[in-house]
Amino acid sequence: MAQSLVVSQEEMDKQRQCAARVREGFPGRTYKIVTYGCQMNAHDSENLAGMLEEMGFAPAADEGEADLLLFNTCCIRDNAERRLLGNVSALAQRKREKPDLLVGVCGCMMQQEGGAQRLLDLCPFVDLVFGTHNLYRLPELLLRALRGQPVRETDGDERGCIPEGLPVRRTSAIQGALTIMYGCNNFCTYCVVPYVRGRERSRSVADVVREAESMAASGIQEILLLGQNVNSYAGGATFPELLRALDGVVPRIRFMTSHPKDLSDALIEEMAHSRSVCPQFHLPVQSGNDKVLREMNRVYTRAHYLERVRALRQAIPEVGLTTDVIAGFPGETEAEFADTLSLVEEVQYDSAFTFIYSPRRGTRAAARPDQIPEAVQHERLDRLIRVQERSTASRLAQQVGSVQEVLVEGASRRREGFLAGRTGRGMTVNFPGDAALVGKIVPVRILGTGANTLRGERA
Ligand code: 5AD
Ligand code: SF4
Repeated sequence: MAQSLVVSQEEMDKQRQCAARVREGFPGRTYKIVTYGCQMNAHDSENLAGMLEEMGFAPAADEGEADLLLFNTCCIRDNAERRLLGNVSALAQRKREKPDLLVGVCGCMMQQEGGAQRLLDLCPFVDLVFGTHNLYRLPELLLRALRGQPVRETDGDERGCIPEGLPVRRTSAIQGALTIMYGCNNFCTYCVVPYVRGRERSRSVADVVREAESMAASGIQEILLLGQNVNSYAGGATFPELLRALDGVVPRIRFMTSHPKDLSDALIEEMAHSRSVCPQFHLPVQSGNDKVLREMNRVYTRAHYLERVRALRQAIPEVGLTTDVIAGFPGETEAEFADTLSLVEEVQYDSAFTFIYSPRRGTRAAARPDQIPEAVQHERLDRLIRVQERSTASRLAQQVGSVQEVLVEGASRRREGFLAGRTGRGMTVNFPGDAALVGKIVPVRILGTGANTLRGERA
């Protein structure tokens, strides 16, 4: 059962007082936030930016000029950590030239056991270190750093808590993320998330609906509901009930991520009848082999997963399915990997995020002696990507000739005079049109396909 531990009003007031002290005592400063990792992190950075602007900080026009550089870290795979360590250690020189530059590092890697120490061994000059459980305390921590005290806040209640009413500086005026729950209780054996994001806890329906309404009032057209496992939402209602409460607040609602073990008939039913919820489902499978799934602690079988996919497609025939897949989990044999390839082939996903297994400190799978050699992992990943490419191409091609409702997100980055937007099932469409259409939902006839996108004209 997800608990609801809201940070006390007193504590939030204290943060607002610290924010006021920063604003008055340290005016005219600029910031730059560098974000790694998932949509959760991207949204946390929007809250960090909101807090900084409340403290009078302005976004720096150029990273080189910022008075505060804040890195919001990820530790889901080794490469995210390596990039962070490389980028922060490269700042040693700049810090010597500009001693009043503040460097902060926060987020998942700083919450991870030993993560902050690995950073500080390499980069002792970092002024401000804090983990995910302390993000909302940025005003208090920044005030301390501005007064010249090094900040190292990597503890925090393992169960975590919910900060309500944080300021937010959104990066898009059209689409916005809304966190409905924090943390994860699943402990998949490869995954570090439960260790750095704490146990599941849900925001109340009232708080979620209030935030959605205020997003709608500011013109946002599409809301992405966020949680590590939205299907186990428990903020006084079930997830399908929450979707019902949000229906019609904005034209489009999406959500991620879902665990296949919790994909209920009630959710499928609600999606099929909702006006706002888009026909898109991100359903990470990770592996197509029962032994590997068991060893990953995924608690479903291949057959159960495929049955859920069938149920989804029966109720919502146009649903766009996407997934996450891991290649080269410890002990995975060639035959077991072949089961993953055949599942991906069978389901025919719109797209897939494919990963090489990366051992994470403190997780069960990392301690296994039967790690797969890197060369084998890479070769498996390549085969997986090729299978998925065929399925992406065929899913895109099936759209040609149809007319799709497209939410226009902005000018196309590739072609002058073209707009880019997404269909309900989440495919990107480029079509010629006027910038005045940005933020509107327009019907577009699909004429052709690119590698990962569709091409069309206004219908
Ligand atoms: N190695 C590789 N991929 C991982 N993921 C999570 N942990 C690991 C790991 N240790 C992938 C899973 C998850 C996605 C967000 O990241 O596929 O669904
Ligand atoms: Fe990680 Fe599994 Fe939780 Fe997803 S469900 S965040 S993969 S532990």
